Amino acid sequence: MRTLELAGTRVPVIGQGTWQMGEDRSRHTEEVAALRLGIELGMTLIDTAEMYAEGGAEEVVRDAIAGQRDSVFLVSKVYPHNASRQGIAQACERSLRRLGTDYIDLYLLHWRGQYPLEETVDAFERLREAGKIGRWGVSNFDLDDLQELDAPACATNQVLYNLEQRGIEFDLLPWSQQQRLPVMAYCPIGQGGKMLANATLKQVAARHDMTPAQVALAWILRQDGVIAIPKAVRPEHIRLNAQAARLQLDAGDLEALDQAFHAPQRKQRLAMV
Ligand SMILES: NC(=O)c1ccc[n+]([C@@H]2O[C@H](COP(=O)([O-])OP(=O)(O)OC[C@H]3O[C@@H](n4cnc5c(N)ncnc54)[C@H](OP(=O)(O)O)[C@@H]3O)[C@@H](O)[C@H]2O)c1
Repeated sequence: MRTLELAGTRVPVIGQGTWQMGEDRSRHTEEVAALRLGIELGMTLIDTAEMYAEGGAEEVVRDAIAGQRDSVFLVSKVYPHNASRQGIAQACERSLRRLGTDYIDLYLLHWRGQYPLEETVDAFERLREAGKIGRWGVSNFDLDDLQELDAPACATNQVLYNLEQRGIEFDLLPWSQQQRLPVMAYCPIGQGGKMLANATLKQVAARHDMTPAQVALAWILRQDGVIAIPKAVRPEHIRLNAQAARLQLDAGDLEALDQAFHAPQRKQRLAMV
């Protein structure tokens, strides 16, 4: 698996998302096995959040990383309403307890909320000094938010990015690449929805003997400094996703995809799900 440098560590360019895991206790074993298979196949970056199943996803992650904590790069996120000086420290302790670990590699502000950015940054820095987190970053920050944040210590910005949602290509992505700020693309396969049924995407996939989801991932990874974090529970999806980084799209593929999914011609407000 290709890697890139994130928060001072080499991480795989394809990680694993966990949204909607931990919601149904009867699926716990299957979800743990899914993450374990993904780790085995090299997708050792795991993205979770206190929000997912209100801590339930972190508990799935705990069971998946048990016995192999050091092989995994763990990303979790704090709710904006917990992003005060005291609130972050407490939220982080709760996440650590649920995750069954004593450090989170990368801790993100899930989206911008009511607390001043300086207060949140200060709280992140205290956690870093205490060794509770390796680095910190943000999520759902548009270019103006990042410029206001103006913090070289910020290790990533996790944003919505896929073939159907290309708004960041206009300004946020080139700026981030110039600043060497890795971008983490969420919903990289459009949540497994109608995007995957697009005729052009299917044609490109057939040309390479791959699937539309694999092309969607390879398309994201055509750029430097971008990590994709697909979520998958079905073992066949996990295997396919782990293979997707191998696919090199050619100029003809990219042109066809540009015709089917248009690049932004002007500034678009950052989309979120
Ligand atoms: N920061 C934020 O605000 C934010 C927001 C949204 C998401 N995220 C993060 O980003 C991760 C990914 O986003 P997401 O989960 O919303 O959407 P996604 O990864 O684009 O899509 C997940 C869906 O696609 C299916 N799938 C996975 N691999 C597939 C494949 N190879 N072929 C066909 N279908 C496939 C999955 O099915 P199965 O599960 O049945 O295999 C699941 O239904 C989240 O899990 C979360 O960690 C962050």
